[in-house]
Amino acid sequence: MMRTHYCGELNEQHIDQTITLAGWVHRRRDHGGVIFLDMRDRDGLVQVVIDPDTPEAFAQADKSRSEYVLKITGRVRNRYAGTENPNMPTGMIEVLGKDIEILAESETPPFPLNDDFTNVGEEVRLKYRFLDMRRPEMLERMRFRSKVTSKIRTYLDKHGFLDVETPVLTRATPEGARDYLVPSRTQPGSFFALPQSPQLFKQLLMVSGFDRYYQIAKCFRDEDLRADRQPEFTQIDIETSFLSDDDIMNITETMARELFDELLGVKFEPLQRMTYADAMRDYASDKPDLRIPMKLVDVADLMQNVEFKVFAGPAKDPKGRIVALRVPGGGAMPRSQIDEYTKFVGIYGAKGLAYIKVNDLAAGIEGLQSPIVKFIEPIVLELLQRVGAENGDLVFFGADKAKIVNDAMGALRVRVGHDLKLATCEWAPLWVVDFPMFEETDDGHWTSVHHPFTMPKCDVETLTSNPGAALSVAYDFVLNGTEIGGGSLRIYNMDMQKAVFKALGISDEEANEKFSFLLDALKYGAPPHGGLAFGLDRLIMLMTGATSIRDVIAFPKTKTAECLMTHAPAPVDAKQLRDLGIRVREKEKAAE
Ligand code: AMO
Ligand code: AMP
Repeated sequence: MMRTHYCGELNEQHIDQTITLAGWVHRRRDHGGVIFLDMRDRDGLVQVVIDPDTPEAFAQADKSRSEYVLKITGRVRNRYAGTENPNMPTGMIEVLGKDIEILAESETPPFPLNDDFTNVGEEVRLKYRFLDMRRPEMLERMRFRSKVTSKIRTYLDKHGFLDVETPVLTRATPEGARDYLVPSRTQPGSFFALPQSPQLFKQLLMVSGFDRYYQIAKCFRDEDLRADRQPEFTQIDIETSFLSDDDIMNITETMARELFDELLGVKFEPLQRMTYADAMRDYASDKPDLRIPMKLVDVADLMQNVEFKVFAGPAKDPKGRIVALRVPGGGAMPRSQIDEYTKFVGIYGAKGLAYIKVNDLAAGIEGLQSPIVKFIEPIVLELLQRVGAENGDLVFFGADKAKIVNDAMGALRVRVGHDLKLATCEWAPLWVVDFPMFEETDDGHWTSVHHPFTMPKCDVETLTSNPGAALSVAYDFVLNGTEIGGGSLRIYNMDMQKAVFKALGISDEEANEKFSFLLDALKYGAPPHGGLAFGLDRLIMLMTGATSIRDVIAFPKTKTAECLMTHAPAPVDAKQLRDLGIRVREKEKAAE
């Protein structure tokens, strides 16, 4: 071992000891005759002083620059009175450098990694990720991530879970995204799919009798990326047999509760369980951010006969929705801010954002300020009473197809809540339960809300006769408006699995072709089973206060699913393609 100590671990107990450090030059200062090197390694920083009394060491220090790798032997001593640095854990001491070996030189880094670091833009940071991760902020996040996975393993081991690896080269596992495909060389024209999750394998492990499984598993989904989505991400994947949905929620909730308590000192009350229907009604979201207490109020019934077409239309449309959002004290909001919010809801497809400022309720219509009051006069007072408006409030309205209203007003609720600092707590976890089995696609088909292996709450006949009304035994773990985990009980009966495939428009042949192994497994004694997967990256993002999951992944991809450091994905040579039986279509053809 080159070093005797990490930089960050040195303190007054080491005074007068001769120690050896190995690390990077964080900062070099030349104080006319004396050179100060702040040395950095994984554990922190320490100040090394080199004076001309040791000419050889001095010469090496003189040559050293930021990010050089040095091995330094020296003696720990007290800093002179008045030169201590209370902001630095090692700030009471310093190392008098006696012997310095330059192990590696460094070019000037593309951005400073010390206190001079300013946000250079994510592209540069990602291109030089290996340098970016030298920064303490990044290092701390990765260290925290490692602590989380270690605690999770300990918890799950303690509760009898077996860690089993499942294949990465496999068949499609439908979780609703596009697959990443890998061509087969031995069977040209055939492809592996990378798993969107280990879903089917973990179910098969239950059929094998493993009883409790977990895996910290890489998942791959080719979908549109956002701050909380990566094409390749990690799940804490869990499956159990013979447990109820309650049991599964309790085990996983306790795990989350212990994590937050032990790592952040945050104590969660037992989690509230909210039905999907209630979440959609009150928050227009299946992952409500409950830090913001404001609720939406349905008002379509009042708008049936108003002369304002923008409201009357959706009010009469069975697929329409009209909601009001009362913003307490929002009456003081300037017009420019309302315009800004109108633009914001536009992102979600809303065609406008009607509002009423409540100046003086006692004055009736005269006390209201709004572009729409004149169109809804007959019902406006009843409306304001329903939403509980008080003087000084602002009430926003969204009217359209339910999907647009939910997306727009659900997001507006959260945005306004945070802008006006209406959050009432720092952490708001909850379970959302009783999800529908299916949702309708734009082209009128049913698709799974969770996945096709989720157990419905009804029998085969009811499911078949009215798929749209069927609920599932599925549950999501939501924290601060982010879905950090989702799971369900699974179908373990062949007839039900076939009925669900049928409702999804998957024919018997297709089901046999794609899922024969699952259908086979259901023939040989499949136990009742169910589980859940947490999104590890999202969990760490929230726990560390990062704003993007890219900041808690060592080597993430950009929004266009590229790695700026390795330049993946990249073209391959013709020979490789030939071996795989693949010809790339020319650009013109692809564009057709
Ligand atoms: P689901 O698809 O809900 O369920 O995924 C589980 C959790 O994984 C996280 N997640 C993601 N994180 C980052 N980037 C992504 N692209 C991404 N997609 C999902 C979310 C989500 O809650 N097999 C089921 C689980 C089960 O039923 O047991 C599944 O994959 O935090
Ligand atoms: P207009 O009659 O289109 O000028 O709209 C009058 C008011 O209604 C404006 O404040 C618009 O922002 C608002 N508005 C228009 N369309 C909608 C909608 N679909 N939902 C809510 N408000 C709307």
